[in-house]
Amino acid sequence: MTASAAKDIIARAVEVLKENDHGDYTIPTKGLYPFQWNWDSCLTALGLAHYDEARAWTEIETLFAHQWPDGMVPHIVFHVWNDGYFPGPEVWRTGRPTATSGITQPAVAGFAVRRLFDRARDRKLAAERACKLLPKIDAWHRWFYENRDPNGEGLVAIIHPWESGRDNSIDWDQAFDRVPTEGVEPYIRRDILHADPAHRPTQAQYDRYLWLVQHFRGLGWDNALLHDASPFQIVDPGFNAILIRAAADLADLAEALGDTGIAKANRARAEKSIAAMERLWSEAHGQYLCLDRLTGKLVDSASVGGVLPAFAAIPQARAAAIAATVERLAGKARHIVPSHDPDDPRFDAKRYWRGPVWLVVNYMIADGLLTAGHAEVARRITRSSLDLITESGFAEYYDSLTGEPLGGGRFTWTAAMVIEFLRGM
Ligand code: DGY
Repeated sequence: MTASAAKDIIARAVEVLKENDHGDYTIPTKGLYPFQWNWDSCLTALGLAHYDEARAWTEIETLFAHQWPDGMVPHIVFHVWNDGYFPGPEVWRTGRPTATSGITQPAVAGFAVRRLFDRARDRKLAAERACKLLPKIDAWHRWFYENRDPNGEGLVAIIHPWESGRDNSIDWDQAFDRVPTEGVEPYIRRDILHADPAHRPTQAQYDRYLWLVQHFRGLGWDNALLHDASPFQIVDPGFNAILIRAAADLADLAEALGDTGIAKANRARAEKSIAAMERLWSEAHGQYLCLDRLTGKLVDSASVGGVLPAFAAIPQARAAAIAATVERLAGKARHIVPSHDPDDPRFDAKRYWRGPVWLVVNYMIADGLLTAGHAEVARRITRSSLDLITESGFAEYYDSLTGEPLGGGRFTWTAAMVIEFLRGM
């Protein structure tokens, strides 16, 4: 791509970010997602920093202003009233001063803050803002291991598919059979007013998402109870890898800022968890797999959740095997990295996390593979991501076989990731 073409795409990406900017937080896209989402915001901050560093810090600070007293950072902050989204605050009923959901999302903040800090042109501003976020992010990491790793295994579980961000992944299908649907209050979905139902989770999945929300609400959103009380407890390798990377990044940041206590705690968390990840490795698939904590078995499902651990400092041999897996996937799908292996009969190129390509995971996988010395595969992922933008615009996700844009349009984190991919071009 020429420098002027790159400049043009960056300008278009900035337009998308500005359109979705609500002053001190950014919504993922108009209509479908009208509030602040946790990991969307943290990754979006990287794009914002391209043209306004102070605004980028604010994005993450706004999210952390709604951290729960126990340390959890909720997956949605409902800053304003909007009936275009379901389930809204009246379903969650978490009792927070500003309404929030009651579950969390991938802990990407530690990574994002370190990256903002490392690249900051305004060093003084960066040091001030990072210092204030440091203990908050540390408290969130502590929360994860205290509440989602009750036996101290070094691996945390998600208790709702929305926590992973990969809402309808094939990874959850079996475990979801255990989630009942009796007693789900009548509801009307809003997502399918904004996006094609064929690209979204199914009604049966929604019933189970809602059952879990009602179940947790019935337990007063007490995080000391929720993990053990959930019929859905999955150790997702991608989710854990993001937490591990964030802990390692937070440790580096804390060292740079002179907080040895936070540095030590996060270094220890990252090291213990990297070792524990070995339990999730599948030689047959050349990637990690989810672990169903309630059955104690690995889930035979080759999703991008098991490729994503390239983002953390996994052993070299594992990173090499993942690089080879991505190359194999490139032989099966026109666009990489598909959210599921196309050879699996359950693969669906259009349905949300069951096959489409998502630029956020591409960004994290490419970043990790580059660091691990697999520059050519990382470049391939970047090229594929940029092809999608040129062909199909800033969509929420893309058909991995045809490149068709899917889900919501003019999507914030897609735009932010494109700016990241094009940095320096
Ligand atoms: C949704 O509503 O589709 C979200 O992914 C939940 O966070």
